[in-house]
Amino acid sequence: MKLIIINGPNLNLLGKREPEVYGDTTFDAYFKSLQDKYATIELAYFQSNIEGEIIDKLHAVGFEYDGILLNAGAYTHTSIAIGDAVKAIETPVIEVHISNVYAREEFRHRSYISPNANGIIIGMGLEGYDLALQRFML
Ligand code: DQA
Repeated sequence: MKLIIINGPNLNLLGKREPEVYGDTTFDAYFKSLQDKYATIELAYFQSNIEGEIIDKLHAVGFEYDGILLNAGAYTHTSIAIGDAVKAIETPVIEVHISNVYAREEFRHRSYISPNANGIIIGMGLEGYDLALQRFML
């Protein structure tokens, strides 16, 4: 089983960034705990602050991997191109958001990913990535 977590802009700052919203754990630390917990899975991680790099990564893994966990950060709410890329690939995508975007500003209520995603996990903190992994393992 080959899965990949793709994180978008500003998610490299997890642990430092608005800890009251996103918590105080770094993603590197959380990712290591996931790798330890799911040692039998080939689990990769990619983060970029650049829209085109996220699209390139979706194209690169999207016909080969068994599942993608995508948190496109603020591009979720703006990027038709990332939404199109999710639609274009074959690998199923679960959209993940750490915070409950529907309890936040209205501009976060729109997602260009959701209509093309196989599922969505929102507002469960970092544990949302773990839940998405478990879904792919069913
Ligand atoms: C986020 C929610 C987005 O609105 C925000 O721009 C992010 C993180 C989340 O995981 O809660 O960068 O995707």
